[in-house]
Amino acid sequence: GRVGVLYGGSSAERKVSLMSGHGVHEALRSKGVDAQLFDTGVYTLVDLINSGFQRVFIALHGRHGEDGTLQGALELLKIPYTGSGPLASSLAMNKVMTKKIWLQAQLPTPGYVVLNSEADLDVAVQTLGLPMIVKPPHEGSTLGVTKVATPEALREAYQLASRYDSDVLAERFVRGRELTVAILGKGRQARALPIIEIIAPEGNYDYEHKYVSNDTQYVCPAALPEELATRIMRTAEQAYAAVGCEGWGRVDFMLDDAGEPWLLEVNTSPGMTSHSLVPMGAKAVGMSYADLCMEILSTAGL
Ligand code: DAL
Ligand code: MG
Repeated sequence: GRVGVLYGGSSAERKVSLMSGHGVHEALRSKGVDAQLFDTGVYTLVDLINSGFQRVFIALHGRHGEDGTLQGALELLKIPYTGSGPLASSLAMNKVMTKKIWLQAQLPTPGYVVLNSEADLDVAVQTLGLPMIVKPPHEGSTLGVTKVATPEALREAYQLASRYDSDVLAERFVRGRELTVAILGKGRQARALPIIEIIAPEGNYDYEHKYVSNDTQYVCPAALPEELATRIMRTAEQAYAAVGCEGWGRVDFMLDDAGEPWLLEVNTSPGMTSHSLVPMGAKAVGMSYADLCMEILSTAGL
């Protein structure tokens, strides 16, 4: 039957999703799938119902695509879809809720303070020290994120992040190496792909270095002692399962200078652009981009 590739949308990550969607659509068609692009930023749920899709591949990022709202609608419409269900999607879209779950599961994630007003800024400095990371809890692709080195800069960072979200997350800064782990499968069956290390200029893996420039280096599998690599992969699987993720996802880490891994977030609809990380993890086990898309599609409705 026909497969809808849902892409675009109206979140701040629309441009990223346009790239992801085109990549997925082309790959599925190359495998003989009757795939059709569907931009949820242009068309409505009524158009989706009338399109006659038997399954959908969600290539949307951020609000109303990755955050559980669309997943809930698809449940009601009885249209099988790729990736996590409504609950895990909405939990993962909120970095504060994700941290609460990980802390409860005794998984390592950096300490944090939720900022509701400028009155909370002093508390954050006292609790977390400087530098710290300030981010909107519901965004992706590093939008609205600042590394803050001084109390003065904190105010500006808070104001920037609060343009995206009313609550703002202040997180202890972890100095070290940036790692990410792609995961395929469901619950206890979920398996980590080889670890990717991201080496961005001046450690600044921001929107520009994610999607635009070509000066970010990626190493997969990351150069790590085998025992540590195994521990990180198991931690990624546990972190994914704790949130209840299904199908596929990507768990982001910092590895501190003492060799301890710290969980930052889980993405339930990760980027599938030509620069993206899940395809790199798949490639390291001999899985092409098109095979990866077929694998993810096969989890729709399971
Ligand atoms: N939020 C972007 C799309 C990612 O996680 O890859
Ligand atoms: Mg993210």
